[in-house]
Amino acid sequence: MDTSSRRTFLGVCLGGVVAGFSAAVLWPLYRYLAPRSGGELTTRVVIAEKDVPEGEAKFFEYAGASAVLVRKKGGELVALSAVCTHLGCIVQWEKEKQDFLCPCHAGRYTPDGTVISGPPPKPLAKLPFSVANGEITVG
Ligand code: FES
Repeated sequence: MDTSSRRTFLGVCLGGVVAGFSAAVLWPLYRYLAPRSGGELTTRVVIAEKDVPEGEAKFFEYAGASAVLVRKKGGELVALSAVCTHLGCIVQWEKEKQDFLCPCHAGRYTPDGTVISGPPPKPLAKLPFSVANGEITVG
């Protein structure tokens, strides 16, 4: 193999490695950041009441985004968007503290979605729901 064809061969190999690495890194990033498209958006979700015990939260998909049902201490139910109002990360339920924490910039919300601290500019959006026959219907 002469020098020129060796360079060409190495160039092709290096190009393949760079293309593979780029695809491995950029595709998951694109899938994470891109808005969801296609398929039906679920605008009505039914969850058994027993699946949301007192002091716990249940996350689910609603209208193409993450949502959460919380049964506060004392039994009151709340349905919220789980999308942080700062930059759109998904909040996490902290059972011990009975609040929501946004892992991206440490925004905190009460179980009602009210901002406690951090950068979120407004509360988590409330979702309509009803309870009948042991089932919670969101939407
Ligand atoms: S995205 Fe939630 S605090 Fe920044």
